[in-house]
Amino acid sequence: MSYDIAVIPGDGIGNEVVDAVEPLLVDAAAAHGVDVATTWFDWGSQRYLDEGSMMPEDGLDRLESFDAILLGAVGHPDVPDHVTLRGLRLPITKGFNQHVCKRPSHLFEGVRSPLRGYEGGDIDFVVYRQNTEGEYADVGGREHRGFGNEVAVQASVFTREATEAVVRPAFEAASERDGKLTNVTKSNAQAHGMVFWDDIVAEVSEEYPDVEVERLLVDAASMDFVRRPDEFDVVVASNLFGDILTDLGGGIMGSLGLAPSTNIDPSREFPSMFEPVHGSAFDIMGQGIANPLGTVLSGSLMFEHLGEDAVAEALWGAVADQLADPDAPRTADIGGDAKTVAVTDDLCDHLTE
Ligand code: NAI
Ligand code: MG
Repeated sequence: MSYDIAVIPGDGIGNEVVDAVEPLLVDAAAAHGVDVATTWFDWGSQRYLDEGSMMPEDGLDRLESFDAILLGAVGHPDVPDHVTLRGLRLPITKGFNQHVCKRPSHLFEGVRSPLRGYEGGDIDFVVYRQNTEGEYADVGGREHRGFGNEVAVQASVFTREATEAVVRPAFEAASERDGKLTNVTKSNAQAHGMVFWDDIVAEVSEEYPDVEVERLLVDAASMDFVRRPDEFDVVVASNLFGDILTDLGGGIMGSLGLAPSTNIDPSREFPSMFEPVHGSAFDIMGQGIANPLGTVLSGSLMFEHLGEDAVAEALWGAVADQLADPDAPRTADIGGDAKTVAVTDDLCDHLTE
């Protein structure tokens, strides 16, 4: 098979990790007879500073024919975060109906969790985050700027279609995994949107009698991610709650730099997009020390989505082998002093072993 992949490195360490990881993904695919052609797009904050927009007006048209998109991260110290996010990532996820943001949290052997007492494999859950609406709907406004009666309204939007679009794959995943789904909600305080959300979870659950459903309010869920992370299997959450919980998920798996992410159009009408959970990391950008493994694992999830399971497993397995090897190079966030490229170079060896 052959695939055309759009590559958008973006900003900051997004560039550093994508530069290091892209050749590895192409090589890993080739080793399994899969041909990958990449087309690079220099969209992001530098383009915004030079030309006034993060991506061209016809950006989505240009991406539409690709089989998948690989994204680094966006975010620049000189550009407000709401401009960078709303200028690139959100238009793509929303425009391409990428309703499902699937984010696994796996504690790999050889990685130390900041939580005491957990060994490799003890923590292994996957969060299904609604990715196109909810609290990140672009609905609201700001009036009377600078006056005493200044007001801002930010509305949350929950639709049946986009909620079902994430809840159903979450149940599907739970029935294929350990049969447990945790619904993260806040329906005590948000009696419209989140009660609707809970109703849809309850409706869909009837199609999956084999899946046990646990309901947690998001505040309690945050505490339980720390107190009993080993008990989660599949977690389904709204856009904001899923966003917050998956940084916590990255933290407890040892580093945000290890955490992979996907933005999936379940209908497969449009290309899906794959990226690490982390952002452009102002504090370490330009130093060549970013952990590239979250991006490698995102690449693994990309090949899984494309149906290339052998490539997906080779990449995931190589990362697991490397992390389990105490002599292998590792970046500072997981206790080493290696550079980004030293990690990907070594990973090439693990891939060919
Ligand atoms: P961040 O995820 O960039 O960084 C949080 C912390 O984790 C930092 O201390 C950073 O050094 C560390 N970290 C992140 N990735 C790492 C890696 N691969 N290796 C080692 N350490 C790593 O989040 P932050 O600092 O809140 O945001 C920085 C910028 O990124 C902002 O402009 C924000 O809007 C943007 N952002 C973009 C995202 C995206 O493009 N999908 C996601 C999250 C943030
Ligand atoms: Mg986030």
